Amino acid sequence: MNNPYHTPVMLEACMQGLAIKSDGLYVDVTFGGGGHSRSILALMGEKGHLYAFDQDPDARKNLIHDNRFTFIQQNFRFLKNNLRLYGLKHVDGILADLGVSSHQFDQAERGFSTRFDARLDMRMDQSGELDAAKIVNTYNEDELHRIFGMYGEIHNARTLAKTLVKARITGTLETVATLKDSIKGLMPRGKEHKYMAQLFQALRIEVNGELDALQTFLQQSAELLTPGGRLVILSYHSLEDRLVKNFIGKGKFRGEVEKDFFGNEIKPFKSVNRKAITASEDEIAVNNRARSAKLRIAEKI
Ligand SMILES: C[S@@+](CC[C@H](N)C(=O)[O-])C[C@H]1O[C@@H](n2cnc3c(N)ncnc32)[C@H](O)[C@@H]1O
Repeated sequence: MNNPYHTPVMLEACMQGLAIKSDGLYVDVTFGGGGHSRSILALMGEKGHLYAFDQDPDARKNLIHDNRFTFIQQNFRFLKNNLRLYGLKHVDGILADLGVSSHQFDQAERGFSTRFDARLDMRMDQSGELDAAKIVNTYNEDELHRIFGMYGEIHNARTLAKTLVKARITGTLETVATLKDSIKGLMPRGKEHKYMAQLFQALRIEVNGELDALQTFLQQSAELLTPGGRLVILSYHSLEDRLVKNFIGKGKFRGEVEKDFFGNEIKPFKSVNRKAITASEDEIAVNNRARSAKLRIAEKI
């Protein structure tokens, strides 16, 4: 299924993971081009219903006209409250395909891609106040160091932060080109592309509060799923995958699993697959975005 907006990753494995019931209630919290949503609807019966979230108004271009479908233009960190507005306290399956869509990457003016020169934006929700230019031009050196180190895993994060703080004295760093230009000397030769990708990843995570949103969402999904309900998550970098893995395995994001008086583990999910599922070589050959994808499937206990 090739869609210029976005080609869904590991579609079949995601559908199997959701174990769709004909009359079930499902949530796709990252609607995007609607590829996964369309498959859910195709597998669901007349009595089922699918609620889809996306914080980017552009996703509305792909809305599905089906009376079993409801679109909610919201951040998935507000999943529980929004579902409550529709009278829902429990659902049978939740799917999250994290990160940005190909459409968001390909729209030069959104500022997500290192391939184009554009304003440093990177907001998935364009009504948000924080964009990448604001971070680069107003965060102090320590704050920049923290996000480059933590979210970009950049080895010379301190030097990078220092360099940017110095560069912005002579003029604001508004665009991808000015940013690239100001850090030319810092990028390891031959690895410029990787370095820029790490830098952009760090900025994007900070702009969109991605790790916070993911943690809030995971906690809410544990409250919302009925016993036996499925949680299916596709992630694209190790910071996200670590949070998902820990939450499914231990019921928390760090530290060891808690146990009750009898030694039983206290956690909301059991893992359906021992290890993360990755895309086949065939899929990667036709969709490069699938290369870094990790799929984790869990069942509510
Ligand atoms: C990888 S794409 C999903 C593609 C989709 N599965 C498909 O088949 O087309 C991720 C989408 O999730 C949205 N998104 C990312 N984080 C979000 C969040 N915290 N809340 C709501 N939407 C989010 C993005 O705007 C983007 O459209």
